[in-house]
Amino acid sequence: MNRTGPQPPRVPVPLRPDGFLLSAEPSFQQALDEAAAIANLSPSSHNCQPWGHAWLKSDRAKALAYELLRGRDDTSAGKDSAGGTDRSTGTDSIYLALAQDTDRSLSALPAHSAEMHLSCGSYWHLLLRALAAQGWLPTAVHHLGPEAAHRAAADAGWPRNWHLLSLAVLNRTGVPPSTDLAELRATAAARRTNRAPYRDLAVAPEALHELANLSPTARDTSARPGVTVRHLRSPVELRRFATLIADHAGRDFSDDAAWRETHSYFRWTAKDAAARPDGFTPSQIFGAVSPPRRLLARVALNPAVLPRLCRLGFDRYLGSQLARTVRTTPVITAAGLPMDVPTASDLLSAGMWLADYWLTATRAGLALHPLSILTQHEDLCIELQQRFGLPGRTFFVARLGYPAATAAATLRRRASAFTL
Ligand SMILES: Cc1cc2nc3c(=O)[nH]c(=O)nc-3n(C[C@H](O)[C@H](O)[C@H](O)COP(=O)(O)O)c2cc1C
Repeated sequence: MNRTGPQPPRVPVPLRPDGFLLSAEPSFQQALDEAAAIANLSPSSHNCQPWGHAWLKSDRAKALAYELLRGRDDTSAGKDSAGGTDRSTGTDSIYLALAQDTDRSLSALPAHSAEMHLSCGSYWHLLLRALAAQGWLPTAVHHLGPEAAHRAAADAGWPRNWHLLSLAVLNRTGVPPSTDLAELRATAAARRTNRAPYRDLAVAPEALHELANLSPTARDTSARPGVTVRHLRSPVELRRFATLIADHAGRDFSDDAAWRETHSYFRWTAKDAAARPDGFTPSQIFGAVSPPRRLLARVALNPAVLPRLCRLGFDRYLGSQLARTVRTTPVITAAGLPMDVPTASDLLSAGMWLADYWLTATRAGLALHPLSILTQHEDLCIELQQRFGLPGRTFFVARLGYPAATAAATLRRRASAFTL
């Protein structure tokens, strides 16, 4: 098992005038490194970056992939793009695995499991799209159930802390125009969570229509589990939604275990951020604040202090502050799955959809700010669904609008990658 080492300097690849590559095509390893750098910009809950991927290259690892694909215990997993002919066993095929890194995962709330699957799905979508943009097309993408994950964990070479989620089979095709990759890289880098107030500007109906009707791209072989999107934007809906936030958002701060975990992702100093490049810096959460206010926030949000302040109503105050921002937001996005209890596989596909939604919004000049408090607690999720007549299970809620200022880029670790 080789942990991917430092990447070699990128050698400029000669282009033909029409944008096609000349002879110096990147090797699969180069393409994978490039794709991982892009996928690593994916959103994740608390910026915990709980993903990892492995190139199953050795005979032993390929035999494991073959075995898992033959006897897969998935339910809503991927389909074969080759019209029902499973080409997953072709000799030239590349086998790629997606895993959840349990050492990097959130666990304080039961709902964090769903958020980890959404985050990993988002990474998988970007990784596969970036590989497709370099001519490595997925002929099959299969999300795997718990049996397959146990089988992989029993393999001697499998990383101890990795939970296998999905397998992709890739085949080499013609090299697409290099602009595809450049565009994807630029959009992935421009996508940010933006928690500041948005511009007082209605979102263009065409943009909302496109976002509500994302179609799988020709290169995307993952099954879409039928995500439905509601865009709440009438004044009445927005007022009612803001009331829901004002009433409940304080729970983020008053749930002791959840807050302790959230707080462990704050990187208060530059030194801490450099040592642990995940989580958030104060400016990502509070925007540009003066050093004294930052210090005040640091003291108030300390888990040893916050519960006392919550007894004085500080949690309700913080909830009301968020509600104020919500009140001036042009659109609230609520995305749902058709089933009441989505499986891990459904949530992984929903995460792939989420990446597509967020990238499409970014391309339209829009920003998102997830408000997961309403999906993290069963009673709040039911209240949300009932108040707005949302079908199925809502798995993602966010503010959507045109940003007034660019949000700072978040910290990033190196992508967790292995060759097995
Ligand atoms: C499933 C999921 C849930 C999230 N929930 C919240 C949330 O409740 N509040 C919030 O401020 N950000 C939330 N985020 C955004 C993450 O904090 C953000 O993606 C991460 O910090 C990385 O920053 P970036 O999106 O700017 O790259 C969520 C992201 C994901 C993928």
